[in-house]
Amino acid sequence: MALPVFLLLCFLLSIVVIFILIRASRRRLLRLPPGNLGLPFVGETLQLISAYKTENPEPFIDERVSRFGPLFTTHVFGEPTVFSADPEVNRFILQNEGKLFDCSYPGSISNLLGKHSLLLMKGSLHKRMHSLTMSFGNSSIIKDHLLVDIDRLIRLNLDSWSDRVLLMEEAKTITFNLTVKQLMSYDPCEWTERLRKEYVLVIEGFFTLPSRLFSPTYSRAITARTKVAEALNLVVRRRRKEAVAISEGGGEKQNDMLAALLADDDGFSDEQIVDFLLALLVAGYETTSTIMTLAVKFLTETPLALAQLKEEHEGIRAKKSNNTEALEWSDYKSMPFTQCVINETLRVANIIGGIFRRAITNVPVKGYTIPKGWQVFASFRAVHLNLDHYKDARSFNPWRWQNKPVPTISGNVFMPFGGGPRLCPGYEIARVILSVFLHRIVTRYSWVPAEEDKLVFFPTTRTQKRYPIKVRRLNCDQAM
Ligand code: HEM
Repeated sequence: MALPVFLLLCFLLSIVVIFILIRASRRRLLRLPPGNLGLPFVGETLQLISAYKTENPEPFIDERVSRFGPLFTTHVFGEPTVFSADPEVNRFILQNEGKLFDCSYPGSISNLLGKHSLLLMKGSLHKRMHSLTMSFGNSSIIKDHLLVDIDRLIRLNLDSWSDRVLLMEEAKTITFNLTVKQLMSYDPCEWTERLRKEYVLVIEGFFTLPSRLFSPTYSRAITARTKVAEALNLVVRRRRKEAVAISEGGGEKQNDMLAALLADDDGFSDEQIVDFLLALLVAGYETTSTIMTLAVKFLTETPLALAQLKEEHEGIRAKKSNNTEALEWSDYKSMPFTQCVINETLRVANIIGGIFRRAITNVPVKGYTIPKGWQVFASFRAVHLNLDHYKDARSFNPWRWQNKPVPTISGNVFMPFGGGPRLCPGYEIARVILSVFLHRIVTRYSWVPAEEDKLVFFPTTRTQKRYPIKVRRLNCDQAM
């Protein structure tokens, strides 16, 4: 071997050895949780992606938990990461948002959301905006105001179904239309549909390289984001003018989120409001529509549960004079088995499998240290599917929730909506949407899967073919 090649090989080898030694000594000094950082730069990203692209991603976590325990170190998406499958640690991470940890999103997501989005806000502004959003989704607002629209818009969508339906697409249209209605009082129309099409392109950009040069999807997403922001900006400007007219005694006040933002004493800029609206559209869209689709999928695969759910909803429908009579709050409150189905769907296949945070300082936890600047991932999924917490944890069994109080937001082992200062402000609305949707679908249609369709979990939880079903209207509609 020529001398220069030999020297080059020695040089490269010493760099690798130094790299491994530095990593090992750093780990000893800081008492990092045990684990494996994998290959330089890529870490264990490829193993994670290939596991989550299958129907059964659990081995990725199971193997590491059995080797290292529920708190382990890995290296994913370009960063060393402490991974928690421990319910107490997960709660600790969520509760210490802003004190020991900050939220952290990949560059593609934060660029597309905009700097004023609730998901990226920090500190006192986040606290204020979070509570404003929570107050807009609480049960009395849903009861007095939103439930009617939720029921009406779900019925409107279901009315258009015939023969073959891509359930995931319909569920997305429903949730988008509901959020637009809740935010700025628009009913579905050509404008909302145009907005939705652009907005879908924005979401596609979330899971790509944040570079206009190297990723056409990202480039398209940025262009679409500009168009969505322009459209929302026009609405905000018009509503601002109307708000002035209303304060001078002309016109009728709208009862929506935009009105609350425009009336806020501190006064938000148009840009702040647009970013805020856009983020709310994002937060409720994929999440709620995926759970709607998966609830139907799991029920289809569990005929006994579907039969029991139908019975519950037939009982509610039988009290109505016809099939179009609106659902009331008391109806929603008399759906105990439906709540079991929703909990179980959220447990088995929550679209938000966990949350990323970044340590602001060295954080001691369970005898280890999470180093300052490191990424942490609190995995809800690992807890939800842990056999120590749930018997036969990996099967869909809605009966496990029967005769138990509806899980409160304080439980450590059931956290589909997160917790702490960033607890999902849409958790109650999401439950109502899911319940009304299940009511309307089981009382109006019977269905069978049109094709075999598989669940995958990367880049998001979804079925590969958007869950196509063949639907048949039930006889009760013919009387209408
Ligand atoms: C089944 C449906 C849903 C699930 C499973 C879900 C889950 C979650 C989770 C786990 C978080 C916490 C994220 C974190 O800690 O970083 C979150 C945050 C959030 N969710 Fe939801 N969500 C759902 C529906 C909705 C809906 C319908 C809305 C609004 C209409 C909404 C609005 C938000 C917002 C704005 C945040 C950010 C809160 C913040 O950062 O302060 N979500 N959601």
